[in-house]
Amino acid sequence: MSALISADDVVQYLPLVAVTSGSALGVLAVLWLVRYLMADAAHRASIRQAVRIRLRWKRLAPMLKLAATDRTPTAMDSLSTTDGKPPKPRTLVPPLKVRHDAYGVIARAGCLPGVGLEEYQKAAPYLADAWRCTRVAVTQDTPSHVLIRGVRLDPLTTATRHHPTGRAPEVAARWDLGVDEYAQPVTVDLTQVPGVTVAGLPGSGKTSLINRLMSDWAPSPAVQFACADGKVTTAYEGDYAHLANRMFAFVGDDLEAANVLFRRLVKLRRDRVAAAPSMLGGPDMWQVGPSESWPLVVLIVDEAHTYFRDHKGSDKETKRLAALAAENARLVEDLVKKGRAMGILVVLATQKSTGDAIPTFIRDVCPVGLSFAQKTSDAAVAALGEDIRNWPDADPVNLQGRSYVGVAAMNHPTQPGFLRIRTPLVTSDDSAEIAHRTAHLTQDPATLLPRIPPRIGLGKAAPDEQSGPLAA
Ligand SMILES: Nc1ncnc2c1ncn2[C@@H]1O[C@H](COP(=O)(O)OP(=O)(O)O)[C@@H](O)[C@H]1O
Ligand SMILES: [Mg+2]
Repeated sequence: MSALISADDVVQYLPLVAVTSGSALGVLAVLWLVRYLMADAAHRASIRQAVRIRLRWKRLAPMLKLAATDRTPTAMDSLSTTDGKPPKPRTLVPPLKVRHDAYGVIARAGCLPGVGLEEYQKAAPYLADAWRCTRVAVTQDTPSHVLIRGVRLDPLTTATRHHPTGRAPEVAARWDLGVDEYAQPVTVDLTQVPGVTVAGLPGSGKTSLINRLMSDWAPSPAVQFACADGKVTTAYEGDYAHLANRMFAFVGDDLEAANVLFRRLVKLRRDRVAAAPSMLGGPDMWQVGPSESWPLVVLIVDEAHTYFRDHKGSDKETKRLAALAAENARLVEDLVKKGRAMGILVVLATQKSTGDAIPTFIRDVCPVGLSFAQKTSDAAVAALGEDIRNWPDADPVNLQGRSYVGVAAMNHPTQPGFLRIRTPLVTSDDSAEIAHRTAHLTQDPATLLPRIPPRIGLGKAAPDEQSGPLAA
């Protein structure tokens, strides 16, 4: 049993069992009680809430104008009136079925003449009060029914944990992010997506989010990872160290090492273009999907500003760093602009996504953008675009405080507006375990391509075509 049975619980439901015992209803009641007692505290609270809602619906619905009045006597009504007076109008209450989950209830209510989606949506704030919910949302379910989602606990401020399963995902490039403010799962399809930006104040949950992505995708041999972590000075330390054996390349904050890695990936992209007709049968990897022999290459660039920010000064060393940063930006731009069809995805995380942190020519070609907490509206606009000013409720400036660590705003993939998402925490122990179990799947994707004969008579290769040594 996942929770202790309190005396209150037993007393509350004993009469029900007593009254109905001995009948088929009694059996059902006992089953129901067992289910209740087996549930954890959050589910029990939701079960009680669902029972209250069902019991009070008949009174509540007319008070909220969610009932209809039928003034036309039916044939039966006319027969049953003996005093010659017209029969009384009947109040029709919409049928209501209520399910529950850990966060609250999901009710399916019928529509009546004059009582449809609009009326339910108008009544939502009062339903929230009556049902003791933090928020209530109403959507059309079928033409004659609406779905009413009521959350008792705020899913955004309820921290959650995710334990990676260790099984290869069934669908390629599907990113499970977490739950929205109504506790509905949020996933983003990253097929055909060349770049993702993740912004947010330090400590707001960016690296954890990427950690989850890697842990979920690591069991697939059709995905290979490379990482540049600008937070660490030497490779294989810091937030990604425990995932290192599932990466074919990993560099720290050294601009030159990052430069070598980015060049190597641009070379991979070009080599893939040459190999695509024979290996894929066409110029677009997404037409056939990623595979073990042509894996989706995910490049993580965390603390991305480290690699791109401008270095001002006239001394030799500063000039060298400025040149490297400019070239890094150009190489990553190449990957984001041209890597999609070749199966290359770049995930860039940074504190601010203003132009000095991620050059706008890179940021603006990343179709998916998320932002955890931000300090200023300007930073929120840089991360999510101008449109966020029209949706103040979703502005990541409001995501301040400990309870919002792990909560991000994202452009809604299918509707106008923004979603707020509670992402779960994946501990480094869990992801280390996954990386350890899947380390044997790590392959350098360049080694999977047929050997391309050296080009003769073309002179010296362009800088981004020279392959560098594997950054340790
Ligand atoms: N989704 C989450 N849920 C709860 N706590 C989280 C979540 N993500 C991060 N944290 C907490 O915040 C800390 C910092 O997270 P991290 O991802 O490293 O932030 P960032 O990369 O934005 O600096 C983590 O060590 C963890 O304790
Ligand atoms: Mg981080």
